[in-house]
Amino acid sequence: DYDAGPFVPVGADLQGLRDAAAGCRGCPLFREATRTVFGSGEASARVVLVGEQPGDQEDRKGEPFVGPAGGVLTRALAEAGIDPAEAYVTNAVKHFKFERQERGKRRIHKAPTLHEISACRPWLASELRLIGPEVVVALGATAGKSLLGSSFRVTQQRGVPLVLPPDGDGEAGGTLVATIHPSAVLRADAAARAGAYAGLIADLGVAARLLD
Ligand code: URA
Repeated sequence: DYDAGPFVPVGADLQGLRDAAAGCRGCPLFREATRTVFGSGEASARVVLVGEQPGDQEDRKGEPFVGPAGGVLTRALAEAGIDPAEAYVTNAVKHFKFERQERGKRRIHKAPTLHEISACRPWLASELRLIGPEVVVALGATAGKSLLGSSFRVTQQRGVPLVLPPDGDGEAGGTLVATIHPSAVLRADAAARAGAYAGLIADLGVAARLLD
């Protein structure tokens, strides 16, 4: 089975984890991706935002949420009153999964499988263990499944404080708030977009009030 666990160094700090993740071969996604995109932010962060996986631009630049979805997220955080300096941003899966268009070189995002999500989970668990945030925000279904299990449904569980289960190493569960993925705002048609964005801000506002 796929598993990043053997690649996660024991007792490492965030930089040590980041360095080790660069060489992860816990699942096949490292083969096609340019690089591992690890989380970004301080170990002292009070809130951790978890996305799905790096996109095309993140894969090129090596930083999470620096593309179009990151633009939506940055604006929504500001509107919800979450200070980006207090936030650590990462993904459930740390390599870009894509397929190439028939002609041309555009790389089209593909959703990770449950096997890939659970293979990569030891990296996310190690980030959460080190940071120990007050609040974790799951951005979309993949992050929710990684953190809460495969029965997670965004539509049913978004916008309310949930108990983050311990990760199996005895770490106490903190609070989790789930919301839609910022790219869902970009994918929404013109009629639905404002509502989707308002919903994202409202859910992030629930997380912001937990930090007050
Ligand atoms: N979408 C994600 O889920 N994560 C990123 O880092 C970028 C886009």
